[in-house]
Amino acid sequence: MKVTLLKLLMASSLMLVSVPALYAKTLIEEAKSAGLAPLPKNQKEIDKFLKENNVKSSAFSEAKAELGKKLYFDPRLSKSGLISCNTCHNLGLGGADGIAAAVGHKWSPNHQHLNSPTVYNSVFNTIQFWDGRAGNLIEQAKGPIENEVEMATPANLAVKKIASLPEYVNAFKKTYGKVSFENIADAIANFERTLITPSPFDKFLEGDEKALSKEAQAGLKLFIDKGCT
Ligand code: HEC
Repeated sequence: MKVTLLKLLMASSLMLVSVPALYAKTLIEEAKSAGLAPLPKNQKEIDKFLKENNVKSSAFSEAKAELGKKLYFDPRLSKSGLISCNTCHNLGLGGADGIAAAVGHKWSPNHQHLNSPTVYNSVFNTIQFWDGRAGNLIEQAKGPIENEVEMATPANLAVKKIASLPEYVNAFKKTYGKVSFENIADAIANFERTLITPSPFDKFLEGDEKALSKEAQAGLKLFIDKGCT
């Protein structure tokens, strides 16, 4: 096993020295045929991805996403007024909280000892939650708001709270017509569509042969050859 790995590494590095550009081109093709694909780059491409994968979504707009962003960070959406989506899916901490079991309402740990998955790139999950019980981000977002150990706010209370704040009322009037639980979830889902993390790896798959260092390319080659894809 170790010998094979060494040989593979030696072979890859030899190839890199002699024909780097050709090597990169071939590697991109190899990666693609192994099923790897770059992340969609914009909302139009995201729409196409969602359609192809039969994931329900609403028409994206910047105004909806901006409203969703406010809601995402707003602890007033929780019963206690202390917990927001960002409490457990901290965008500064990789979209999660870094603890073994999420802590929510009344500082209770998740009853099933589940940790918070990242919200970054969650728009590309064709199912949501660890057990896949939600089919899209709109349905997903309703869960934590109502969940007793997360934000513990029944749907009607969430609507009442948001509809008591004039700035929100105006923003909802402009984007959706009115405040409703469905529209709150939809706005948050629109914001989550912007939480994507394009990287040099995506650029490489799009054909930019210089986007990855030689070492990273060798790693990708190894990753594919070992069947990790
Ligand atoms: C108390 C912590 C907590 C809060 C608050 C919370 N979440 Fe979560 N979130 C979790 C946990 C834990 C899971 C996994 C639960 C499961 O699979 O049953 C999860 C799952 C998710 C997922 C699914 C990701 C995947 O990979 O399947 C998304 C998206 C998400 N949350 C978004 C949100 C949004 C939006 C809010 C605010 C409306 C929110 N969360 C509030 C802890 C939290």
